[in-house]
Amino acid sequence: MSLELMAKRTADLYGKCFGQPPRWIVAAPGRVNIIGEHTDYNQGFVLPMAIERYTVFAGDGNNRREVVMHSMTTGDTATFALKNLKPGSPAWSNYIRGVTFHFRKLSPRLAGFQAVIDSTVPSSGGLSSSAALEVGAATLLEAITRQTLEPLKKVLLCQKAEHDFAGVPCGIMDQYTSVMARKGHALLLDCRTNTSTPVLMPGDDVVVLIINTTVRRRVGDVEYSTRRAQCEQASEALGLPSLRDATIQDLSALSRIRNPVVHRRARHVVTEIERTLQAARALEAADWTTLGELMYASHESLRVDYEVSCLELDAVVEIARSLAGDGVIGCRMTGAGFGGCAVCLVKSDAATHLIRRIGWLYEYRTGIQPEIFSTRPASGARILE
Ligand code: GLA
Repeated sequence: MSLELMAKRTADLYGKCFGQPPRWIVAAPGRVNIIGEHTDYNQGFVLPMAIERYTVFAGDGNNRREVVMHSMTTGDTATFALKNLKPGSPAWSNYIRGVTFHFRKLSPRLAGFQAVIDSTVPSSGGLSSSAALEVGAATLLEAITRQTLEPLKKVLLCQKAEHDFAGVPCGIMDQYTSVMARKGHALLLDCRTNTSTPVLMPGDDVVVLIINTTVRRRVGDVEYSTRRAQCEQASEALGLPSLRDATIQDLSALSRIRNPVVHRRARHVVTEIERTLQAARALEAADWTTLGELMYASHESLRVDYEVSCLELDAVVEIARSLAGDGVIGCRMTGAGFGGCAVCLVKSDAATHLIRRIGWLYEYRTGIQPEIFSTRPASGARILE
């Protein structure tokens, strides 16, 4: 569905729910990470881009000191007072509760608001549906209060909302991409300085396919926190501020003093940071062979050393790799892992055929029908009207 159609649909429902047209319509995109997985919270590099899938808010301020939000995706409504904001239910409202809580500290002017929310970002798929919700909410609040935040401040506010209200100790990549993304570009983001360089995705030769395995393991959040803690253990043991500062030679010291699991986790991070830098150069030079090899190497490292893949993601990557002759450039799992989506770079003229072929082979192998779509790099969050 086009963004225009989504905006219209959301505004129409707002009119039905609240008896007048919305004052504002805003959109925030989901993201896909091309490479650089589980490196952001180690102050490393990542190479994400925004996708043409959005969370749209149609909304307006109110003076009732309360927030009323209706989700078209879940069909339920969340209502909460501005005072004493705490996590609550439904679960999706926590992202908005968190953003509202932190935004109010910057803009006491906020006296309440109401909105209808729609989204085409698949939830729990590793495509940052939560970041799109947070960044969409922050963009709506900017519009309502007419107070534009400095973009990095907005990113950090949304990240903090996720830490404090959803309890997930995420890195900065998702919120950063949803705010800062540039059309036609990926972002080489340095998660130490929180600065990025846009990397043009050259011409129309390639498109990104997103292959949703549609499986999601419940252990995901716990395992994410465990991985983060293991990385901290590794950098502490090495006497370094973060794994960004470690070299592959440093890691041999680690194998003497720590258990082999921590060593493998650190090896993934150190090698993945290096692959991400190489991938950005390959993308810029349209060196598809190198980029493809780096994506497969990243997947292998996530599967073996970081242990965040799963059978279904491995199946997608194997299937894609077997179709190199049909126009597949590279493929890997994307996002936190334990299910969700794979990202697959393909030659544009082969995309339609590959969507069918990968879909069929995946279903044949797993018995599950995947969701597959193509996207070009999209722009970051914005006010539509
Ligand atoms: C999730 C987190 C990100 C990042 C990825 C893994 O999407 O929100 O900060 O850590 O996992 O690369």
